[in-house]
Amino acid sequence: MKKQLLIMMALLLVLVGCQPNENKDIDKKDMGVVNVYTTRHYDADDAIYARFTEETGIKVNVVTDEAVVSVEKIKEQGQAVQADVFMTSDAGNLAKAKEAGILDAIESQTLTSNVPSKYRDQDNMWFGLTKRARVFLYSTERLSLTDLEGVTYENLVTDPRFTDKVLIRTSSNIYNQSLVASFIEIMGSEKTEEWITNLVSSMARNPEGNDRVQAVEVKNGTGDIAIANSYYYGKLVDESDTESKYYGVADVVGIYFPNQGENESGVHINVSGAGVVKHAKNKDNAIKLIEFLSEVKQQEEFAATNYEFPVNVEASYSELTQSWLDAQGIETLKEQDINLNVLGDNNNEAYEMMIKLNWDTPKQ
Ligand code: FE2
Repeated sequence: MKKQLLIMMALLLVLVGCQPNENKDIDKKDMGVVNVYTTRHYDADDAIYARFTEETGIKVNVVTDEAVVSVEKIKEQGQAVQADVFMTSDAGNLAKAKEAGILDAIESQTLTSNVPSKYRDQDNMWFGLTKRARVFLYSTERLSLTDLEGVTYENLVTDPRFTDKVLIRTSSNIYNQSLVASFIEIMGSEKTEEWITNLVSSMARNPEGNDRVQAVEVKNGTGDIAIANSYYYGKLVDESDTESKYYGVADVVGIYFPNQGENESGVHINVSGAGVVKHAKNKDNAIKLIEFLSEVKQQEEFAATNYEFPVNVEASYSELTQSWLDAQGIETLKEQDINLNVLGDNNNEAYEMMIKLNWDTPKQ
């Protein structure tokens, strides 16, 4: 009898012992949701969200919209907001979201240690998650890397070799507004106006189309150098759809990171990033997701799948992006030495300058 009782007790203990584990499993399946409003238009992000769900049990709902639309939606929803995380490309857009009052400050040790201070908001309203450089995409049929040695943002637009040869998209594009905003910080307003004036007279045509279209026009011979974001070059390299207008472009177009010299200001870097929405219903889950995205593994996946650079200094560059730097003999990429908060601060002045100096109508 005593033996039986002991066995019964042991069994009971085992059962009780199992309980917390079982509960953990149940909890994991029911950790709620996180609603992400994003403007990032990359399939690669979905795979990362799927892994987050797998690891945490938190379901990720994604709504994709343009930055302005997302910000307006969130503003209109007020206290009844459906978004928990706001994610977008470009520090200029992140700053606009902060200004619109839709973000909440996050206190997170993980984020402040994973994201260098120059790539996050000074009030912790948003955190950069991936880096991209605004580079030159050049015709490898008409130029070599040696021809480009020493060519900078500044002297590209005064070099007679490139008169009527420079391609860039319109002033309404945030990437260009942020580029100009960075120049206002680095060279001052007057020099930036001069730069825009010279750029406008170097343009191959009236700006139109997206960043990749500028590279297509390099291939077509409309111009020799396009100013575009670095990840688009990765997309061009990997374009496998033979019907696509982007197919084969990278065969005759190369990538060049300007302003790498000792006395030069470094290449223009921007980020895509995220913040927690004010009045978010799932705030803890929102913070968990942003923290997850800042970890080395996810950082390296971003870098590999969307041809971006990780912000976390512990994460490695992808083989492809590293090969671009190696080809140019760059050991450490020299980046503009500015805090990205200034891209928001200088956005209005930048845009007004671009309009005033006829960025969009050089060939009127
Ligand atoms: Fe983009």
